[in-house]
Amino acid sequence: MKEELEKLAAEAKHKIEEADNLSQLEQIRIDYLGRKGCLNLFFKKLGQLPPEDRALMGQLINQSKEELSQGLTRKKETIANLLQAEELEQERIDITLPPPMPASGKRHPITRTINDIVHIFSRFGFQIAEGPEVELEYYNFDALNIPKDHPSRDMHDTFYTRPGILLRTHTSPIQIRVMERGQPPFRIIAPGRAYRRDATDASHSSVFHQIEGFLVDEETTFSDLKGILNAFVKEFFGKQSVLRFRPSFFPFTEPSAEIDISCVICNGKGCSVCSQTGWLEILGAGMIDPEVFRMVKIDSERYLGFAFGMGIERVAMLKYGINDIRLFYENDLRFLEQF
Ligand code: FA5
Ligand code: MG
Repeated sequence: MKEELEKLAAEAKHKIEEADNLSQLEQIRIDYLGRKGCLNLFFKKLGQLPPEDRALMGQLINQSKEELSQGLTRKKETIANLLQAEELEQERIDITLPPPMPASGKRHPITRTINDIVHIFSRFGFQIAEGPEVELEYYNFDALNIPKDHPSRDMHDTFYTRPGILLRTHTSPIQIRVMERGQPPFRIIAPGRAYRRDATDASHSSVFHQIEGFLVDEETTFSDLKGILNAFVKEFFGKQSVLRFRPSFFPFTEPSAEIDISCVICNGKGCSVCSQTGWLEILGAGMIDPEVFRMVKIDSERYLGFAFGMGIERVAMLKYGINDIRLFYENDLRFLEQF
């Protein structure tokens, strides 16, 4: 009977060792230590033993029960610890995981285009200047050799704030302000906003941006103007871009030209952006008129200069393939995020 008990105890111990979850352990407890468990059956068999052996055997049974119950408790703890460790591992916060990045702001495509243009011209030795958007009529027109009754004032449909004061219609008044203050030589690039009572369409807006450039020095020629503009356009748009100089008229330059670039939207086939011509006008330019030099007291016998005024929206449209100028002002994130 003793051997039988030992065998059973060893068997139970082995099962406890093998068990890997709590319900298995519970089953072992019921099978061996439960009220009807197999160890308790030994107590019933005690009656079969000679009386002098009964006490000893009873002790052995109790001892086995005690050992098994301790074994079960230890194993339960081990399993509970394992489960907890597993749970902790699963719920662990991974501090090496990068956090979701906040969406970063970007420069507006107009700002970006201005910066790019200014950057190129500053490498050609030009310096930045600025002027007021609310401007005196004198700087916007008179000093640029556009007298009051001159028909070219009609070219610029103007917003007046009050008589004599207006929203500048171009960045050319900056030429006058800079030349008035200083002495040649000048190499100036001047970006800013301009306002005209133009009807809005795919390539016209009543508020838009220009960049004025001018150079005044001894022996400046029209070829210098062509050379600088060509160098700029190749740099800004790429080597494949084509320039076209068209004779034009501005009261403040003589001779004057308007410069077109081949339309990249339709590859010159004609579309709504280039008004079906295949070309898009990007700037006006010319040699500074001696009359302008006279207004700012620069000796036109000694100095010559060229000037140009470029439409920033127009070059941005060409560069990025944007087919409507209005997209710049709508602040639609789906548009802005692309830059
Ligand atoms: C002028 O404004 C002259 N001041 C340019 C100039 C400067 C000539 C220096 C000679 C010497 P124009 O009106 O053509 O010229 O305008 C220049 C450029 O501004 C145009 O080629 C075009 O690109 C842009 N532009 C003109 N009007 C608008 C408009 N309503 N919307 C968007 N861009 C415009
Ligand atoms: Mg024009």
